[in-house]
Amino acid sequence: MQPQHDRIIIFDTTLRDGEQCPGATLNGDEKLAIAKQLARLGVDVIEAGFPFASPGDFDAVQKIAATVGTETGPTICGLARATRQDIKAAADAVKPAAKPRIHTFIATSDIHLQYKLKKSREEVLKIAPEMVAYAKSFVDDVEFSPEDAGRSDPEFLYQILEVAIAAGATTVNIPDTVGYTTPAEFGALIRGIKENVPNIDQAIISVHGHNDLGLAVANFLSAVENGARQLECTINGIGERAGNAALEELVMALHVRRQYYNPFFGRAPESTEPLTQIDTKQIYKTSRLVSNLTGMLVQPNKAIVGANAFAHESGIHQDGVLKNKLTYEIMDAESIGLSENQIVLGKHSGRHAFGNRLQELGFELSDTDLNKAFVRFKELADKKKEISDWDIEAIVNDEIQQAPDFFRLELVQVSCGDRAQPTATVTVRTPDGEELTDAAIGTGPVDAIYKAINRVINVPNKLIEFSVQSVTAGIDAIGEVTIRIQHEDRVYSGHAANTDIVVASAQAYVNALNRLSEALEKDRLHAQHETAVV
Ligand code: KIV
Ligand code: ZN
Repeated sequence: MQPQHDRIIIFDTTLRDGEQCPGATLNGDEKLAIAKQLARLGVDVIEAGFPFASPGDFDAVQKIAATVGTETGPTICGLARATRQDIKAAADAVKPAAKPRIHTFIATSDIHLQYKLKKSREEVLKIAPEMVAYAKSFVDDVEFSPEDAGRSDPEFLYQILEVAIAAGATTVNIPDTVGYTTPAEFGALIRGIKENVPNIDQAIISVHGHNDLGLAVANFLSAVENGARQLECTINGIGERAGNAALEELVMALHVRRQYYNPFFGRAPESTEPLTQIDTKQIYKTSRLVSNLTGMLVQPNKAIVGANAFAHESGIHQDGVLKNKLTYEIMDAESIGLSENQIVLGKHSGRHAFGNRLQELGFELSDTDLNKAFVRFKELADKKKEISDWDIEAIVNDEIQQAPDFFRLELVQVSCGDRAQPTATVTVRTPDGEELTDAAIGTGPVDAIYKAINRVINVPNKLIEFSVQSVTAGIDAIGEVTIRIQHEDRVYSGHAANTDIVVASAQAYVNALNRLSEALEKDRLHAQHETAVV
């Protein structure tokens, strides 16, 4: 019999469902950097990807399993449809992890059965336990999801969950795939499962949900009240369409309102024992990392991690907070690590001090990467007197994002002003090591740079989003530029940080073009492979 958890298991799917949002595609190094930070955050399970989807996904899951999936680290999970080839790929990819999990799913709503799967309920009822048993032949820890559970017939759900558990599923996950249910309905669905699936005490009940009506977090909290003990969520709520339930909102709701939630776990209301294992002080840092690497900006009024989440604008509020923080604040900015931005280094700090601070911040860089980051740090220290942790993070994240095998910006020069025609010159190193220089005029400096780069890197695309944010306050602050470009029907993001926002704009564009070129190269190799197979 499976022990019933008396706390919440946090299952993070930023690297799988989160990465499914347009433009959020991450390369292997970026996924690994996020996985390491998720481990520091203290998530219980990382769904690292969908290994059968592509060789790149497989490699990333395998690398995360080998590097982050240590004995004391999180469980590493791979997603698989309920087919043998998917499950085998997931099993191979998660194998290096100390605690591997396979998550297999099949749709159960009538609309999915009829139009998508073209299968009857009887057929699905047969496939699910067969595939759970097949997954179980590789790992002990198997999760089963009836996709679109939110719109499935509850009686059919009870049947399929019972056979999946009997076949060895240790977690049964209930997805509101299209974000359709309301909190009362979702809570009742979980209660119904608890009351009507005879062997439910042998599995953990999990929930997964999308935010199409903005109800994902509310639905999950209602599910918790009714017996769900695993929550599938993403950092900043990124994910398919309107996204997934946001990890930071769930964790902080359970933390700030623990007096309310404690009794649902059989605890006294005043118990101070945390309901999750998350180190809440890592929340803000994780949010920034995910936003920078995916190019998915966090809206300023986003709960917990938005720029305005702890800002007080009205005079009445400011006055109240000065007198007593509790007048208008229900949680401390410190509790999510927001004010941990210490001024740490300056012009005279050496490589050793820089390396030490990186380690304290949780970055493990190779000697080559440390050297590159240190050069960037010295350049920054010449321009900026005091360097904070956030500046250091911006430099390192910027380095992680460089794709050395593709294009590299070697030089950018702009002349502009109210009496001048904005003109840019750029030099770009191509994948073959050739240095190409070109120039262009534009309506503004960024337009001129992008046109000059287009003359060198000739990949048609449309700029659909451009944003600049400063990392810290002050005139000498690092500016972070995030852009999104579209090529055919796919979106690619680019991000770069520099004290000169014109340079950052150029780097962000080259970064996005590198992602686009990488994807085109993958498509080309895939097409070649298909032709060879035929
Ligand atoms: O939304 C969904 O149903 C999913 C499943 C694969 C769990 O992402
Ligand atoms: Zn989903």
